Amino acid sequence: MAKAIRFFELNTGAKIPSLGLGTYQSDPGLVADAVATAVKVGYRHIDCAQAYGNEKEIGSALKKLFQDGVVQRNDLWITSKLWCNDHAPEDVHKALDRTLRDLQLEYLDLYLIHWPVSMKKGSSGFKPENLTQTDIPSTWRAMEAVYDSGKARAIGVSNFSCKKLRDLLEFARVPPAVNQVECHPAWHSLQLHEFCNSKGVHLSGYSPLGSPGTLKSDILKNPILNIVAEKLGKSPAQVALRWGLQMGHSALPKSTNEARLKQNLDVFDWSIPQDLFAKFSEIEQASEARKRYSICA
Ligand code: A2P
Repeated sequence: MAKAIRFFELNTGAKIPSLGLGTYQSDPGLVADAVATAVKVGYRHIDCAQAYGNEKEIGSALKKLFQDGVVQRNDLWITSKLWCNDHAPEDVHKALDRTLRDLQLEYLDLYLIHWPVSMKKGSSGFKPENLTQTDIPSTWRAMEAVYDSGKARAIGVSNFSCKKLRDLLEFARVPPAVNQVECHPAWHSLQLHEFCNSKGVHLSGYSPLGSPGTLKSDILKNPILNIVAEKLGKSPAQVALRWGLQMGHSALPKSTNEARLKQNLDVFDWSIPQDLFAKFSEIEQASEARKRYSICA
């Protein structure tokens, strides 16, 4: 029988739903409907970030879902992220409060440092002139204070390499619960996954479909993925997501389309058998992702 992978347990003891709705590049005007539809069809995990510029709209959608009795707050897992221009310790709590205000929530289930790179206050965009001295220990201490306050029930990081994570674990009083990174069949992050596993840090995968159309990779067209999909009678997207779950990652596919939202959730009552799963190791790994992560090495 297929193994359902509905949750992963974090080092806090909390259970994170293994599939969440990504909201990056979900346009204002579309994202509220996407969140409402997703929750109605069964999603219980929404991945947000202040930098995505759509938290207010997501907040309105959540408020309506609660008011209409579709779901209760404690049935949902909501993640958000601290942007790079709010890394100064005195700004961390303020940034979280802004996110909570926008999302119309009293607490987050998970708050992440979005990138291990600091930018000047008020600046935006990853431009060299916006970068400033990065001091993760100071930022992390402020994240720990946020955790102590109860406004974020778990804290973690995003886009951290093994080295950055190892450094953080050396001084963390509260170890990160999650490292959210790009992860899909053409970007396995195998070494990072093994390192996270060994340290009890859960790996959560964004762009689990390789963000089709953005040149990150064309994973949904990959021949190996398509052969596996055909053999199992599933779509390439479903196979990519199921691969992530079987690897032990949570997966955060983005969609604003109802049919694809439903399709992406249909990954729990079947599995990729071992002989087909082994074929994923033959998939060539994307070089674009490597280039982008040199900033976080
Ligand atoms: P759409 O929102 O129109 O569904 P990722 O999560 O890897 O960044 O990928 C998101 C992109 O993949 C979006 O462009 C989304 O478009 C598209 N997408 C989401 N689900 C599927 C699916 N099941 N099949 C094909 N494309 C999908």
